[in-house]
Amino acid sequence: MRLLKAAMLAGTVAIMFAGSALAADVKIGFIVKQPEEPWFQDEWKFADIAAKEKGFTVVKIGAEDGEKVQSAIDNLGAQGVQGFIICTPDVKLGPGIVAKADANQLKVMTVDDRLVGADGSPLADVPHMGISATKIGEDVGKALAAEIKKRGWDMKSVGAIRVSYDQLPTAVDRVEGAIAMLKEAGFPAANIFDAPQAKTDTEAALNASTTVLNKHSDIKHWVAFGLNDEAVLGAIRASESVGISSDNIVGIGIGGADSAINEFKKPSATGFFGTVIISPKRHGYETAMNMYDWVANNKEPPKLTLTSGSLALRGDYEKVRKDLGIE
Ligand code: GLA
Repeated sequence: MRLLKAAMLAGTVAIMFAGSALAADVKIGFIVKQPEEPWFQDEWKFADIAAKEKGFTVVKIGAEDGEKVQSAIDNLGAQGVQGFIICTPDVKLGPGIVAKADANQLKVMTVDDRLVGADGSPLADVPHMGISATKIGEDVGKALAAEIKKRGWDMKSVGAIRVSYDQLPTAVDRVEGAIAMLKEAGFPAANIFDAPQAKTDTEAALNASTTVLNKHSDIKHWVAFGLNDEAVLGAIRASESVGISSDNIVGIGIGGADSAINEFKKPSATGFFGTVIISPKRHGYETAMNMYDWVANNKEPPKLTLTSGSLALRGDYEKVRKDLGIE
């Protein structure tokens, strides 16, 4: 009887080990499209915190284009990584990324930017965590409309800069959400000008916005919105360079990382009026934990997780951060 019990116990232990790898053996990759951007730095930081907590390893790689993505995935495979999280530089690389991951026998989940197939629809089989883009864009639009009214500007004479990156679906959802709320508040569609950026950084947004502002130099009051804080900061820098005073432009970004906070901390207010704070902790810590659980315990992450945001203005961002538990 005792022997039988011992054998059963040994069997149970063997099954437990077969089902869950030891944390120290788990290695996951975390590839991001723009490693210099504070948002992605924060995602990496939180992924590292998850790794430390559980005792697994995170290999972090920046990949700004398709070629770098391909070699990053091969590199992860060669390092004995079992799965990776990626924010791709181009969502159309979707099928190629999945094929590369398969070839290297790596599990893959995406963060921020969701992969699309040849027909442009999302690769729904790849687990994804993104922001609730339309809702967050709407929050931006509502806050801009409220501020236009508060300042007593006549909507008909206000210009709007739509800093755009239309090849990225989440970017379109964000700016279209903002536009829907502006229009609902009575903002004329004809006053919304597209400023297409070549890349999703501040410099590209500055260049795109400068063209719009120069073309419409008769307009006195402006609002600006875009994909992220960097896009809106580009529009604000452009307004400064063409001599628009900071109280004649209201920009609201999305992100809430250092790019926004440093701007709020400037001693005199710039046109960067607010941001919708999103959560790099969820996108970094939670995706890393998801991938860990997938590799170690064969528990697949949810197919789609959409995270929320909280509007913070120059005047109240410290309180909003405190309420969100960000120090
Ligand atoms: C995109 C943007 C980033 C950030 C994330 C949030 O990847 O390029 O700046 O806003 O979405 O999901």
